[in-house]
Amino acid sequence: MVYTVTINPALDYHMEVAAPVFGEINRSTGETVYPGGKGLNVSIVLTRLGVENVATGFAGGFIGEAIVHSAQAMGVRCDFVPVDKESRINVKLHSRPETAFNSAGPRLTDADLDRLLAKLAPIGPEDYLVLSGNVPEEHADWYARILTQLASTGCCVVVDAMGDTLWDCLPFRPYLVKPNISELGALYDFPDPSLEEAVSMAGQLRREGAQNVLVSMGAEGAFLLTEGDQLLSAGAVLGPVVSTVGAGDALAAGFLAGSLFCGHKTNALAMGVAAGCAAVRVSHLPQKQDIMSLLSKIEVTGG
Ligand SMILES: Nc1ncnc2c1ncn2[C@@H]1O[C@H](COP(=O)(O)OP(=O)(O)OP(=O)(O)O)[C@@H](O)[C@H]1O
Ligand SMILES: [Mg+2]
Repeated sequence: MVYTVTINPALDYHMEVAAPVFGEINRSTGETVYPGGKGLNVSIVLTRLGVENVATGFAGGFIGEAIVHSAQAMGVRCDFVPVDKESRINVKLHSRPETAFNSAGPRLTDADLDRLLAKLAPIGPEDYLVLSGNVPEEHADWYARILTQLASTGCCVVVDAMGDTLWDCLPFRPYLVKPNISELGALYDFPDPSLEEAVSMAGQLRREGAQNVLVSMGAEGAFLLTEGDQLLSAGAVLGPVVSTVGAGDALAAGFLAGSLFCGHKTNALAMGVAAGCAAVRVSHLPQKQDIMSLLSKIEVTGG
């Protein structure tokens, strides 16, 4: 079973406003609502790929209910900790340039974390735990606290987070970390690394504790440095880009699905990159057929 954790999920309210003007009433020409949050995105893509999973985290008030209902309507099994404050709505303006207003979300307490830890208690050595997205500053240590509780279970941990949140997870030897190339550079105070420099930083991340490092590079595809120090790379399939939001989450979900289905890193990387490429072609997240139709076009080199 795969468990995804979304600490601060959102109802993403997308509005078509071609040329918004501050200080005026801006009328949108269309609206769409999606459940948002990186862990939930991973759950949606895993579900579409047929991987059994549970989305957990915190959801509160009528917005929290709407997040859970809309995820369930997509077939996602949800088991969120109810909190007594409202979850957040993020407003995404489809304008030029693209503009987003992301809310802070509810203040959570240590008692809320304890309730989440109770939901994670059944996790065992066969299970995967996906910690995705950054946590509010006041809870910067929550991923490490979750991993402290689960350290003895032997479960496979996937972390997609930046900066200190990621650093703090490394001593727990996560199975996979998935920075994009600029997040990887930022970890080492090294902006805009070349591919060679990124590979060397991925090696450093492995020495710091990560077992496998999957580095996404947008339109350049992704590379994987494996636990056996094998370097595998896959280029992206280029095409029309509708929205890059969630591409990294689709990559992580595709990779996990690929490794669960066949246990082979080459196929996992191909499935991940296919899912990322499929994600940018659609307004939200890709369906299974979107991913499968690109899979045969992904070439993995190295190893
Ligand atoms: N412009 C693009 N064209 C084709 N594929 C793309 C493009 N951008 C991203 N992808 C695909 O999506 C994957 C993940 O992209 P990216 O590196 O942008 O992730 P990210 O920055 O973590 O995204 P997120 O915003 O979801 O966190 C890439 O490895 C690639 O497969
Ligand atoms: Mg990302």
